[in-house]
Amino acid sequence: MSQVRIVEVGPRDGLQNETRTLPPAIRAQLVQRLAQAGLRHIEAGAFVSPRWVPQMAGSDEVLWLLPALPGVRYSALVPNEQGMRSALACGYQEVAVFAAASETFSQRNTNCSIDESLTRFAPVAALAREHGVRLRGYISCVVACPYEGATAPGQVADLCLKLQQLGCDEISLGDTTGAGTPRQIRQLIAACAAQVPSAMLAGHFHDTYGMAVANVLAALEAGLTIFDASVSGLGGCPYSPGASGNLATEDLVYLLEGLGLPTGIDLERLIDAGAWIDTVLERQTASRVARARLAARAACATRP
Ligand code: HMG
Ligand code: MG
Repeated sequence: MSQVRIVEVGPRDGLQNETRTLPPAIRAQLVQRLAQAGLRHIEAGAFVSPRWVPQMAGSDEVLWLLPALPGVRYSALVPNEQGMRSALACGYQEVAVFAAASETFSQRNTNCSIDESLTRFAPVAALAREHGVRLRGYISCVVACPYEGATAPGQVADLCLKLQQLGCDEISLGDTTGAGTPRQIRQLIAACAAQVPSAMLAGHFHDTYGMAVANVLAALEAGLTIFDASVSGLGGCPYSPGASGNLATEDLVYLLEGLGLPTGIDLERLIDAGAWIDTVLERQTASRVARARLAARAACATRP
């Protein structure tokens, strides 16, 4: 395998989980710093109900503030036709619908059943086709649900097929609780790849149990080449209690480059972008790689 693709989800999956709501100008600045570090696919916002997730209000303004950079794609999450029309109106070139493999999570996250969520996605997919917009599909709780426990891989695989039939170009497998281990990830990918081509699957791992990097390695070995990550390990999910932190982009880049898989990302600039947003949010980085590099930089600076 020669090429892997990273989807940066920090400005969406990360910031949606912060107690502080950042203004669009700061969110756009984060996206720009990530693009300057070399990220080419950045999820910049979400057109969801501001009553449900106030942190994502103003995702139209975020896009207006962003320069069009060659090779850089900005995307947004949309749960229904209303969100899709808003995303189209401001010019997003890619959108993502999001379903769950668990009924309870689907209800808590989007106030509808899994089947109802697919019905809501149909007009989104039709509009995506009509406007030439790329469509991504997320599946949450692919390993476990915070309310229902373990998820059967077959349930996720069935949903993959339905999302592909709907018109999704790519399907991101979300280990929302971060409970997955490499063995479970291998079993999950085998089940999903029996239904849809593995080339259209992405790994979206949360690092709650410290398994995210190991799960990426297992997924790479199982044939996945697309991985989601969040700068500085920002995030979680507002409807998944205890699901702290996405896989940090810094940790993913370090792993991939170490495996000889080029990412095109400048790790030091990425760490700077993470340190900047951490200062804004008054938080510590959740990236082990960033912590190690920042400590090494500080040690070099103080050495006589
Ligand atoms: P609902 O209340 O059932 O919707 O919410 P409704 O159709 O009955 O409408 C109620 C109100 O919401 C109306 O406003 C609508 O206009 C408004 P009102 O008349 O009361 O003033 N509304 C909207 N406003 C803005 N944008 C929209 C929209 N749609 C309706 N698109 C809804 C249903 C899906 C909207 C709601 O449940 C919602 O917004 N949920 C968002 C949940 C969310 O964003 N969760 C986090 C993202 S998923 C995730 O993080 C997991 C992932 O990372 C993968 C993983 O790790 O697992 C992707
Ligand atoms: Mg997530």
